[in-house]
Amino acid sequence: SSAQPAASVSVPQPIKTIAVVGAGTMGLGIAQLCVQHGFPTILFDLNADILAKAEVAIAAGLGKLVEKGKMPSTEREAALARLRPTTDLAIVQADLIIEAVVEKLAVKHELFQNLAAQNAPQTILASNTSSLPITRLAAAVPHPERVVGMHFFNPAPLMPLVEVISGVATAPAVADAVQALAEKLGKQPVRAADAPGFIVNRVARHFYVESLKVVEEQVAPFDVVDELLEATGFRMGPFRLMDLIGVDTNFSVTSAMFEAFHFDPKFRPSRIQQQKVDAGHHGRKTGKGFYDYSS
Ligand code: NAI
Repeated sequence: SSAQPAASVSVPQPIKTIAVVGAGTMGLGIAQLCVQHGFPTILFDLNADILAKAEVAIAAGLGKLVEKGKMPSTEREAALARLRPTTDLAIVQADLIIEAVVEKLAVKHELFQNLAAQNAPQTILASNTSSLPITRLAAAVPHPERVVGMHFFNPAPLMPLVEVISGVATAPAVADAVQALAEKLGKQPVRAADAPGFIVNRVARHFYVESLKVVEEQVAPFDVVDELLEATGFRMGPFRLMDLIGVDTNFSVTSAMFEAFHFDPKFRPSRIQQQKVDAGHHGRKTGKGFYDYSS
C-alpha cells in the first residue's frame, strides 16, 4: 500500500548523547559501557549514596580494563570525564535515555512522563525492564513510538546479549536505532517479541522458581543446590545468581511474570524469597542475601 507514517511519528535523531536513569546494579554497568564507547552520558539516581557508589564502581570497572591491557590509562580518564552523575532530574536530557530503575510499572510510567515533558519528542525512551510489557509502558507516554525495550544482562559491561523489544507502538526506526547503538557498544542485540519476560527471563524463570521450591520443600539446602548445578556446568548456581542479580529485583520480575501469565502456578513467587526481600537481604548490593558478603 502507499500508507505513509502519520505526521505525528517522530523519527529518531542520530544518538550522540545518552542518559541512564537509575544507578543501581544495572544502571552503573550500562553507564560504564556508554562512556567507555565514547558517549557523553548523564547518570541519574534519586539516591545520592547509590550514585556515589556507582561512580566508584565505574572507575573500578574501567580500571580493570586498563589492568587487563584492554584500555590505555589515558582513555580511562577520558571515559570518566564523559560521565556526568546527577541527582537533578531536570537536567536529564539526551538523544537516548535508558531507564534502569526498580521493576515497578507505576515508577517507570511516572519517570517516562517526566522525561517526555523535558525532552524532544524524538528522544528515544528505552527501558531495561526484565518483565514489564513495553506496550503497556509506552501507552501512557506522549509519542509512544519512541518507547522501546533495551534489555541488558548482568553484569552489563561483560554480557554480550541485549534483547531489543518493540511494543505495539514502537516505530521500526527506533528499534533499528537501538539495535545499531547496541552494536556500537560491542553487544550482540537480538530482537524479541513483547511477551512477558521476553525470551531469556521467561525460560530462565524456572531455574529460580524450581530451585526455590526444592529448598522450600527441604529436598536440599540452597548451597547444595548451587554446588550441584555448578558441578553440572552452570557458571553460577541459582542462589549465587539471585544474589548477583538482586534478590528484590529477581522477586519483582517473578511477581510481574506471575501476573502477566494470569497467575499460572508455574511462575508463583516463593515465600522464602519474599522473606529475604522483607528482611532487606537483597544480595551482594546489601552485603547479604542467601550468602554473606560482609567480610
Ligand atoms: P537496583 O535496585 O539495583 O537499582 C535501581 C535503582 O533505581 C536504585 O538505585 C534506586 O535508587 C533507583 N530508583 C528508584 N526509583 C527511581 C526513580 N523514580 N528515579 C530514579 N532512580 C530511581 O535495580 P536493578 O537490579 O539495577 O534493576 C533495574 C532495572 O533493570 C529493573 O527494571 C530490572 O528488571 C532490570 N534488570 C535487572 C537485571 C539484574 O540482573 N539486576 C538484569 C537486567 C535487567
